[in-house]
Amino acid sequence: MNSFSKIEILDSTLREGEQTPGVSFTIKQKVTIAKLLDDFGVDFIELGHPAVSPDVYAAVETLNDLDLKVKKIAHGRASKSDINDAVAIGVEWMGMFFGTSPLSLKHKFDVSKKEALERIQTTVKYGKDKGLKLRFTAEDASRTEFDFLVQVGKLIQESGADRYSLADTVGCLTPTKTKELIGRIVTELDIPIHVHCHNDFGMATANALSALEAGAQCVDVAVNGLGERCGLPPIAEVVTALVNIYKVNGNWDLSILPELTHLVGSFSNLQLKANQPIVGENAFTHKAGLHVKAVAKDPRSYEAIAPETLNRKRKLIIDKYTSSYALKNKFNEIGVSLTEMELAAVLKEIKSHPEKVSWTGIELIYLTKSMGIKT
Ligand code: COA
Ligand code: ZN
Repeated sequence: MNSFSKIEILDSTLREGEQTPGVSFTIKQKVTIAKLLDDFGVDFIELGHPAVSPDVYAAVETLNDLDLKVKKIAHGRASKSDINDAVAIGVEWMGMFFGTSPLSLKHKFDVSKKEALERIQTTVKYGKDKGLKLRFTAEDASRTEFDFLVQVGKLIQESGADRYSLADTVGCLTPTKTKELIGRIVTELDIPIHVHCHNDFGMATANALSALEAGAQCVDVAVNGLGERCGLPPIAEVVTALVNIYKVNGNWDLSILPELTHLVGSFSNLQLKANQPIVGENAFTHKAGLHVKAVAKDPRSYEAIAPETLNRKRKLIIDKYTSSYALKNKFNEIGVSLTEMELAAVLKEIKSHPEKVSWTGIELIYLTKSMGIKT
């Protein structure tokens, strides 16, 4: 079990995040995101895969030149040419990946396990000889036989790799399976274990946290959960869960999360779901009368985290679910005093308009006036 004393967060917004359909960041946007991620306090920023295109290559160069606290890591295949790119750019870390599942070996590379091991060993040694710090990722690790995963892990460890990353490439792990897999791998190897979860079944955050529980040192995340298909664990979910549920005392500035969310949201032109945990519009909005009443007395009644710690504000909705307490509270807030009878009449009117899903203060004043109530 991880003591949580050395947890690291790798943000992949600039690499895998840009693999989100419809997304292409400019270099200037990448620089802005990287600076904010550095202020937030992630441990690694994946800068990109230089071989993808000239602009990604140039972005990795520019990002690598930034004066940041974070560890910078370039992404690439287990190939000499991708290693040469990382070396030419002068980046300190390289994340190198190679598919290890039977599907990858057969369809992507058409190699036997023995040939795959030889290729992995040669490239890891090549990268280490060039002076790189190396994280080796077994792509599709969750569909790779356990013994082969261990064999690959031991081989890269002996060849000098600094980190071993297991990718749940199609997001088919569950929290229980993740815990079992990572727990076993951690006991077999000495180098720190990283985990890259995908959200195809909506379990990426839970799986990433399970991996940390089982002893993984680092998990990959992306702002707003960007990434191929259904993306990666959202940074906001993973980090706020670590702080609030697991009581990890990381050096993360949670108050930056709304800015990160909106910045990356605007650069990626992707609408965030209103009910997105932590950063979604509804995350701190209360509606049913019973909830609003309890929250007004003590917000902890219906809030696991105080919105103020995330630089966010609580919102209370007035609609047909409203109770007299919540309505009175709202009128007090806008400086309007009504008698109990007037309040009851306004409440009845609100409840007879189910099509109206949110009444603003001005609309409520207008409603009372239209009912002949003096305010
Ligand atoms: N390690 C080593 N070699 C690899 C490899 C890996 N992980 N993945 C592919 N290759 C080899 C292929 O076998 C192929 O070899 P060949 O020319 O001898 O047949 C060669 O690299 C080119 O394959 P491919 O990557 O398919 O080339 P491409 O021109 O279609 O795409 C990129 C190049 C850079 C766009 C592509 O690698 C890419 O999409 N990268 C970003 C996505 C990514 O990194 N995903 C996986 C991690 S989440
Ligand atoms: Zn991925």
